[in-house]
Amino acid sequence: MRRRQGLWRLAWSLPFALAALLGLILAFHLQAAQPDGEAIFDANCAGCHESGRGPQRGDIERLARLYDQGVETLYANALNGTGGMPARGGNAALSDDEVFAAVDYLFRPITAQSD
Ligand code: HEC
Repeated sequence: MRRRQGLWRLAWSLPFALAALLGLILAFHLQAAQPDGEAIFDANCAGCHESGRGPQRGDIERLARLYDQGVETLYANALNGTGGMPARGGNAALSDDEVFAAVDYLFRPITAQSD
């Protein structure tokens, strides 16, 4: 009888264990889903950064000079703004990760060989 009770308890806890596992998988999946830097850049940054108002993706020398500050500084300046650069590109609705993804895309011409 004691043994049966133990089995019942195990059977009851199984759905909870499964739910916890599913939650973990979902959390991992959400974290793994990277924001689309190119789409964010096109929608929020290109207006200045492809028109010559801000540093352009084609201006390798300028990008390289900026990149010398270190990527953390670039991220911070993109979040907080600097000079003619508005905080979060002027879109307060962008999350930190979305802004970082757009910064990564902006600098990809010098951080990657392809693209
Ligand atoms: C209103 C125009 C404008 C928009 C929109 C804009 N930028 Fe900028 N950005 C600039 C200008 C101008 C500079 C040069 C800043 C300076 O040094 O005066 C700049 C500079 C930067 C820099 C270099 C900062 C540094 O360290 O000097 C980064 C990184 C950057 N922008 C990222 C972004 C991203 C990402 C977006 C979109 C989410 C964005 N910008 C949207 C105008 C803009």
